[in-house]
Amino acid sequence: MKKRLFLSATMLAVAALSSVSAIAQTNTFKIGLILPMTGQQATTGRQIEAAARLYMAQNGDNVAGKKIELIVKDDTSVPDVTRRLAQELIVNDKVNVLAGFGITPSAFATAPLATQSKTPMVVMAAATSSITQASPYIVRTSFTLAQAAVAMGDWAPKNGIKKVVTLVSDYGPGIDAEKYFKERLTFNGGQVAESLRVPLRNPDFAPFLQKVRDLKPDALFVFVPSGAGAAVMKQFLERGMDKAGIKLIGTGDVTDDDQLNDMGDGALGVVTSHHYSAAHPSALNKKFVEAFGKANKGLRPNFMAVGGYDGMRVIYEALKITKGKGGGEALLAAMKGQIFESPRGPMFIDAQTRDVVQNIYLRKVERKGGQLYNVEFDVIKDVKDPGKEK
Ligand code: DHB
Repeated sequence: MKKRLFLSATMLAVAALSSVSAIAQTNTFKIGLILPMTGQQATTGRQIEAAARLYMAQNGDNVAGKKIELIVKDDTSVPDVTRRLAQELIVNDKVNVLAGFGITPSAFATAPLATQSKTPMVVMAAATSSITQASPYIVRTSFTLAQAAVAMGDWAPKNGIKKVVTLVSDYGPGIDAEKYFKERLTFNGGQVAESLRVPLRNPDFAPFLQKVRDLKPDALFVFVPSGAGAAVMKQFLERGMDKAGIKLIGTGDVTDDDQLNDMGDGALGVVTSHHYSAAHPSALNKKFVEAFGKANKGLRPNFMAVGGYDGMRVIYEALKITKGKGGGEALLAAMKGQIFESPRGPMFIDAQTRDVVQNIYLRKVERKGGQLYNVEFDVIKDVKDPGKEK
C-alpha cells in the first residue's frame, strides 16, 4: 500500500514536471545556431553570433507569443561535428529552426537531417550554389560565389584586364568562383591563362604566387574564404606582384571587412565584386554598422554578419506570419518569398529556389575617414544565382 502510494506520488510528480516542461516547450521557440567559433573559420562564427544577438537585442525575444531561445554551438568547421551537433539539437533540444553553417561542407553534412526531421535550415554563410538543392528545407541568406564571380567576369575585360590567372580554395565555393568567372570572362573575350587551386586547410600561397608571377597575367583573380584574405594580400605584396604590374581582383571575400582595415595601403585600389560592404551608403546600413560596432567593441560587420542578421529577420518574420503556431513546413513556407531591405540593399528569398536574389556591387578599396573600405562604384541589380540556370 505504502509502496503504491509512493509510486503514484512519484508518477504524479513526474507527470507534473513533464507538463511544466511541455508548457515551457510550447512557449519557447528554439533556434540552433551552429557556427565555427574556434579554428580557421572562427571570425565567421564571431561575426554571425554577434549579428544574431544584435538582431535579438533590437527586436526583442518575444515574438508571436513565443520566447526566442538562441542555442549557439561551435562546430570548429568540421562537418562531422556539425552533423552531430545538428542531430543533438533536433533530438534533444527539439529546436524549431537550424541556422548558421560557416562553410559549405558543414551545410552539406546537415542537409539530410533537415529533410528527415522537417526542420527549416537557414544557411547564413556557406555559398556554394548547389547547397539549396541538398534539402527542400534549406533557405539561404548569404550569397553564392556564382552571383559574385559573374559580375567580375563582366567588369574585368571592360577595364583592360584580358589575361587572368585564377587562384581559389579547392572546395565547393572556390570551384564555383573559378567556373563562373572563367565562363563569363571568356564570353567577354578574355582568357584564363591558368587555374590554380590551393587547399582549404592551412594554405600556403607562396608557391602559387611564384607561378603567377612567372605567367605575368594582367590580373590574379582570387577566392579564399572569409578570414584568409589578409594572408593572400600580405604575400601578394611581399612578392611585389603589384609592382610587376599584376592586379589583384576577386570576389569580396578577399577584402573581407573583418580584416580589410589592417591590410595597409597595399590594398588600396583592389577591385572586387560582392553583395555587402560595410561602406554601403544606405541609412539602414549606417545604423546597422554603428549598432554592431557599439555592441562589439568597435568591430566592423562583414558579409558574414549581414547573412546572420538577415537570417534572423527571415526566422522572426516566419514566426510572425505563422502566428507562433507553425511547424517546420509552415515556417518554411513563410520564409519563401520574403522581400525586404537588408543593410546590403534590397533582398528577396526566391520561393522556387529558396536562394537569395540581391544586388551585386563592384567596389574599390579606398581610404575614407582614415580607414580602408570597399567603396561601391557600380551595381548589378537583382542578381539570381547563375548556378541554378544550368
Ligand atoms: C564559404 C565560406 C566562406 O568563408 C566564404 O567567404 C564563402 C563561402 C563556404 O564554405 O561556402
